[in-house]
Amino acid sequence: MECESGTSHVVAVQWSAPLYEIAAGLDGSAPLGRSGRGMRAMSNSIKPQPGIDQIVLYKGGESHLDGFDKVLKLSSNENPFGPPEAARQALIETAGALHRYPSTDHADLRRAIAEVHDLDTTRIICGAGSDEILMFLCQAYAAPGLEVIYTKHGFAMYRILALGAGATPVVVAERDRVVDVDAILAAVTGATRLVFVTNPGNPTGTMIGTDDLARLARDLPDNVLLVIDGAYAEFAQDYDGGASLVDARENVVMTRTFSKLYGLGGLRVGWAYGPTHVIDTLNRLRGPFNLGVSQLATAEAAMRDRTSADFYRTENARLRAWLAEALADLEISSDPSFANYVLARFKDQTEAEACEIALRHDGILVRKVAGYGFPEGLRITIGTEADCARVVASIRRFREGAR
Ligand SMILES: Cc1ncc(COP(=O)(O)O)c(C=O)c1O
Repeated sequence: MECESGTSHVVAVQWSAPLYEIAAGLDGSAPLGRSGRGMRAMSNSIKPQPGIDQIVLYKGGESHLDGFDKVLKLSSNENPFGPPEAARQALIETAGALHRYPSTDHADLRRAIAEVHDLDTTRIICGAGSDEILMFLCQAYAAPGLEVIYTKHGFAMYRILALGAGATPVVVAERDRVVDVDAILAAVTGATRLVFVTNPGNPTGTMIGTDDLARLARDLPDNVLLVIDGAYAEFAQDYDGGASLVDARENVVMTRTFSKLYGLGGLRVGWAYGPTHVIDTLNRLRGPFNLGVSQLATAEAAMRDRTSADFYRTENARLRAWLAEALADLEISSDPSFANYVLARFKDQTEAEACEIALRHDGILVRKVAGYGFPEGLRITIGTEADCARVVASIRRFREGAR
């Protein structure tokens, strides 16, 4: 629906339902025409909170390519094998229970997470993707006049969620595509309340070690909360995602997701582990029914299926090493990745863009990451063995100028 005042797309989308209802008289009032008095007054005087009009909509990885029935989608860091069988079964079994409201405390899912990760069940919160928990964190701890720090190549949602809370996003440089703890500490002011660190980084795939994270947590002022975003933590070997740091401190939260290793991006389930005071605060913001019956049961089954999780992790590590080496053979550099993607760095932006187009011609989608500060880069999700072979063959043809 288009607003008469030429209001931005975001606002028009958010208003479409109530405007429609009023225009059609569904609220019991007489229908208004498009030029009705009420409508014009609303669009001129109702304004969102400051900061919201600066938000640029998040753009997810593409899924479709004209001319292809089936594309090879390596643009969204999804699990190439799909959801584990146990999760599919659990989802089907919930069909008969959809008339029931879900549990409000997510006790079974939290227990499964706690048992697998050896965590305190009472300090876990579950959300509609880890995105929702990141949003709760900004709602709870950021506000106009306060600052939210994240690093140059950090996840795009940090800016969106900081602005959504009216806060000021503060971007800190990384060093050689790795989070720089000293630069973060130097950027902290009296207004800082949140620091987001993605570990492993997206789209870099690089990591900072547990000692660096501990130093950051220790040296931040007491009123600053460190959020360790572990969306890809499962892909890094011998890394607890920051859980032990959470246990040791009062100013650290770890966020995790079922969207990547567990192959449930379409289901929307994430979780966080934090100090009691933080989890208590976030629970006050959480809608009581934020996760449905199917989400809860499916995620629980996926978490308890350790055989599948181990298989996904091992295959990812094997194929990630293979892909990085194949790229190196083609003289395309990449940093050692600890996640389920590799950031391929080309000679320059022109070459990266040309390669991306060549891949499209072969029915392959990868992620352009200029918006993350890498105009010369393409982020390639680790697929199956056949997927990896296919993307490398396509890049090789491009490199050899065979088209
Ligand atoms: C770094 C990072 N954090 C958080 C998320 C959000 O994941 P979800 O909301 O699917 O749990 C993503 C998704 O791509 C991500 O890359």
